[in-house]
Amino acid sequence: MIKRLLVTGAGGGLGRYVRERLKGSAEILRLSDIVEISPAGPGEEVVRCDLADREAVADLVRGSDAVLHLGAISVEANFDALLQANFLGTYNLYEAARQAGVRRIIFASSNHVIGFHPVGEQLHAQAERRPDSLYGVSKCFGEDLARLYFDKFGLETACLRIGSCFDEPKDRRMLSTWLSPRDFISLVDKLIAAPAIGHLVLYGVSANRDAWWSNGHADFLGWKPQDTSEPYREAIERRDQETAAGSEYQGGRFAAGGILG
Ligand code: NAI
Repeated sequence: MIKRLLVTGAGGGLGRYVRERLKGSAEILRLSDIVEISPAGPGEEVVRCDLADREAVADLVRGSDAVLHLGAISVEANFDALLQANFLGTYNLYEAARQAGVRRIIFASSNHVIGFHPVGEQLHAQAERRPDSLYGVSKCFGEDLARLYFDKFGLETACLRIGSCFDEPKDRRMLSTWLSPRDFISLVDKLIAAPAIGHLVLYGVSANRDAWWSNGHADFLGWKPQDTSEPYREAIERRDQETAAGSEYQGGRFAAGGILG
């Protein structure tokens, strides 16, 4: 077990799953967000920090063995907002991690790095990236930064292209893209515990019948998703009769929208 795992974006949806369910991966969870989160419980530290603040991020990262980097604007936004949280924030995190000698980062990348591939097309980790939004571009930047920091400095990263991680799939698209919270946590657990991961790109998706993404190259992790969206299919298909905007693309509505000014 590692000593200290830093979790950025700990106040968000996935951060809350981590806080509730990720037990036994690290002795101490250092939980951080730009917004206030509830006080530290046993085995926790809470540090409020804006990822765009370089000095604060250096202090935040020091003493961590690994980082689960969830902190970001997690939807399409205007470029200036993404520039601070996603571009600058991720750079600050990697540079602080390098200086602090952090061994491994799990970077919450996104399916929106490949969102302009048509639905139904089967993709593996090496598929061409086709970001569907400025948000998707910000995640491409994070993946490339991770690659640079591995090749130059040996800092390991798992770029986890998360599908749709919510309690339940909410629409037709999520029948393909859903990642259950339980599968998310078990995958993070494996990524922390694996002896070596190098620079790894993989998809965070449950064992859905109509999934578009495969992780064959990551079998060495021994991760097997336990959940599937199938039990939700009937209710979703009955409810969602209309074709949603962007439904021809894997990124869905992110591919359909324009640039936000
Ligand atoms: P969320 O929006 O609920 O949480 C993100 C957290 O980051 C928020 O608590 C927010 O306050 C924090 N944050 C934003 N800007 C910050 C800054 N400048 N400094 C520090 N913290 C900042 O998002 P969610 O769903 O928890 O996602 C977590 C990560 O996973 C995000 O990076 C997101 O892009 C990625 N992801 C999530 C997916 C999902 O299905 N939930 C799908 C694909 C990617």
